[in-house]
Amino acid sequence: MDSLFSTGSLVTLSLILALTTVAPQAEARAFFVFGDSLVDNGNNDYLATTARADSPPYGIDYPTHQPTGRFSNGLNIPDIISEQMGAEPTLPYLSPMLTGERLLVGANFASAGIGILNDTGIQFLNIIRIGRQLEYFQQYQNRVSGLIGPEQTQRLVNQALVLITLGGNDFVNNYYLVPLSARSRQFALPDYVPFLISEYRKILVRLYELGARRVLVTGTGPLGCVPAELAQRSRNGECAVELQQAAALFNPQLVEMLGGLNSEIGGNVFIAANAMEMNMDFISDPQAYGFVTSKVACCGQGPYNGLGLCTRLSNLCPNRDIYAFWDPFHPSERANRIIVQQMMTGSSKYMNPMNLSTILALDSKT
Ligand SMILES: *[C@@H]1O[C@H](CO)[C@@H](O)[C@H](O)[C@H]1NC(C)=O
Ligand SMILES: *[C@@H]1O[C@H](CO)[C@@H](O)[C@H](O)[C@H]1NC(C)=O
Repeated sequence: MDSLFSTGSLVTLSLILALTTVAPQAEARAFFVFGDSLVDNGNNDYLATTARADSPPYGIDYPTHQPTGRFSNGLNIPDIISEQMGAEPTLPYLSPMLTGERLLVGANFASAGIGILNDTGIQFLNIIRIGRQLEYFQQYQNRVSGLIGPEQTQRLVNQALVLITLGGNDFVNNYYLVPLSARSRQFALPDYVPFLISEYRKILVRLYELGARRVLVTGTGPLGCVPAELAQRSRNGECAVELQQAAALFNPQLVEMLGGLNSEIGGNVFIAANAMEMNMDFISDPQAYGFVTSKVACCGQGPYNGLGLCTRLSNLCPNRDIYAFWDPFHPSERANRIIVQQMMTGSSKYMNPMNLSTILALDSKT
């Protein structure tokens, strides 16, 4: 009986197999992250601010079991996206470890407390506002140019995946921070939202000018349903109406703005991730997702563990995997995994105009 393969083609075949298993490693695309505490990997640990997740029990389920500055018991959304891409997690831009080859993985510029507007999060003092995050992105590119030259740098940036998460704080830590806040006296909510969207648009245009070509833009989650708002604004455990209203106005206008930018550019640069739907799935039916509650935070105090900060003195649940919320504002690692799963494979209800697995497959062909 004839052998199916000659010895020569067997060797060729195993060589091809060897090459294909090595290639993704060498060509892992860079990843850049901008935004607020939902995506900060630890920049604020290097700043004089009160918006820091730098003490236990933050990080209790992180591989090192130490706080890292992430607002999570373990991994956060960018970490899990990196994992899905088969890449190392991005380092905070301010980390002294971010040098040499590590720069080629990308960088995380996010800073807890910031928003679209400069006056969002002023109570946190020294945080990296979005304009500054973009300046750092430019500085990053100059540093990488010194390493691999300007053309390769441009390629690395153009081929990178970018994530930007903004907007929640413009409501929670600005418009609704105190009764009669300056912005709420200046704008009625239906006028504030278009103002935010027009400012956000400028930020995204700048990101495009700086070379970003695949940008995942998350809308705000269900702001009124987080334990902090249940504790402060809800009598019976229903999601707080004003903040839900804000998110319901913001998200569709964001999707429309992104669609407008894409048609001006003539390509699908900006991808909308519907964080509202992604979160509402497990908030409305926590049991279906293996959570015992979506109202009570794992770490905190007061009603719903929603008051104050998560500290060593707070209540702490023994099993973080069965809580949708880790602290009064931020999802647990398990909830973050559900969110990223929808980003990867979700239908157009979640990802517009396409999901991340489609993007990764598309971009790997070009
Ligand atoms: C925010 O602050 C930066 C830096 O001071 C400034 O360049 C930018 O114009 C400000 N943005 C707005 C909308 O005022
Ligand atoms: C999302 O990804 C899955 C593959 O994981 C694919 O089957 C599906 O069609 C995609 N949906 C959209 C809307 O792109």
